[in-house]
Amino acid sequence: MNVYDGQRIATMLEAHNMIQTDDLSEADLIILNTCAVREKATNKVYSALGRIRKAKKPTALFGIVGCVARESGSDAFKRIPELNFVLGPQSYHKLPELIKDPASKLLNIDLTGLEKFDELPTMQQTPLVAYIPVQEGCNHCCTYCIVPYTRGRELSRPFDDIIKDTINAANTGAIEICFLGQNVNGYKYTDPAGKIFKLSDVIRETAKIDNVKRIRFTSSYPTEMTDDLIDMFATESKLLPFLNMPIQSGSERILKLMHRPDNLKMYFNIVDKLKQARPDIQISSDFIVGFPDETEEDFQCTVDIAKKIKYINSYSFKYSPRPHTAAAIMPNQISEQIKSVRLQLLDSQLNINQREFNLSCIGKEMLCLFEGPDKTGTKLVYRTPYMQQCIIDKKHDDNITSLQMIKITEANKSCLKGEPIK
Ligand code: 5AD
Ligand code: SF4
Repeated sequence: MNVYDGQRIATMLEAHNMIQTDDLSEADLIILNTCAVREKATNKVYSALGRIRKAKKPTALFGIVGCVARESGSDAFKRIPELNFVLGPQSYHKLPELIKDPASKLLNIDLTGLEKFDELPTMQQTPLVAYIPVQEGCNHCCTYCIVPYTRGRELSRPFDDIIKDTINAANTGAIEICFLGQNVNGYKYTDPAGKIFKLSDVIRETAKIDNVKRIRFTSSYPTEMTDDLIDMFATESKLLPFLNMPIQSGSERILKLMHRPDNLKMYFNIVDKLKQARPDIQISSDFIVGFPDETEEDFQCTVDIAKKIKYINSYSFKYSPRPHTAAAIMPNQISEQIKSVRLQLLDSQLNINQREFNLSCIGKEMLCLFEGPDKTGTKLVYRTPYMQQCIIDKKHDDNITSLQMIKITEANKSCLKGEPIK
């Protein structure tokens, strides 16, 4: 979501005759697009703001947008009085007001609507992967999560607007469409005639667009993985065989404390249905270790589920107490030391899964999407349908395409190597 927001901010400012620079000391406007999901991310924002304050031109305007702006509100100005703007995730389209009146201080952390989508200029050029939000906010109050506070309650965008954005993305360079939402499969829009549109309708319509070759969506809430959406994996071949469906913990007791779906039988049943719909599907998860009151036994259940489902491409985090959340004031908070040990143990299992899956790809042919040159400039990086990095030698770059069939020849834990197939 933040990558998407960053692209939209850049496009908006280009329409106001600004150009991007990597040189902080040269910039006239410096924007930190921020994440508040864990405390470390928030702390990083404030130390970065301190650095920026010293390194920037005296006349340069600077400030924060996104979830830390929403979390801090006017306190941000108290912490750093020189800040010029503090704009929440639904208000960054107000930035041009500052260009008109540089002496003003902008503060807006409202979450009342999706007007930003109407006010932002249309993208004239889209990268090969287009991020398209279908909804923002979340109605699931997981007890550890600050997102319902920072991004607000769920708001689904009108179906026609999403399709219009998707067609525009496909006409201006996109090959892959990634639909976004904090609770993407909770997407539900009722049009003025009373017709209901769900994520499966969005996918079905998108698959009809010729230039679109790959479709994916993130992030899914397990119990909102309804049959109509699961069916899409069987009927729409453009939908990639890869799904991010976080479980967070393998212990039903902890899931209950997290206020997450806690019936693991139901979760396994959804996984089975997905596999029936698309036998080659792979699933990724997010995990939190060291949630309050998590015992060794609870934690072991998390390692066991990672092993059982064989999740790939997963993310794991130490629990971080956040303001405005119920878990932050729960008893039996776990020490940093125990969290670190558990994170390491879980990561070892996730690495085993990843390595095994990557090795199983050797000899397979996969249709991969171009991402860019590697750091050395001698190789080209592609993404497989499972979002693995796949590297090929640059010597081939005369006759290869953005979407390229590649035969996998080597694999390790972190990436694949391959040869393009003509
Ligand atoms: N502490 C640690 N991880 C968190 N996440 C969300 N809130 C917290 C928190 N307080 C993780 C979840 C979520 C991902 C985006 O971030 O795993 O799926
Ligand atoms: Fe946060 Fe995701 Fe839970 Fe919503 S479903 S509260 S975004 S963790």
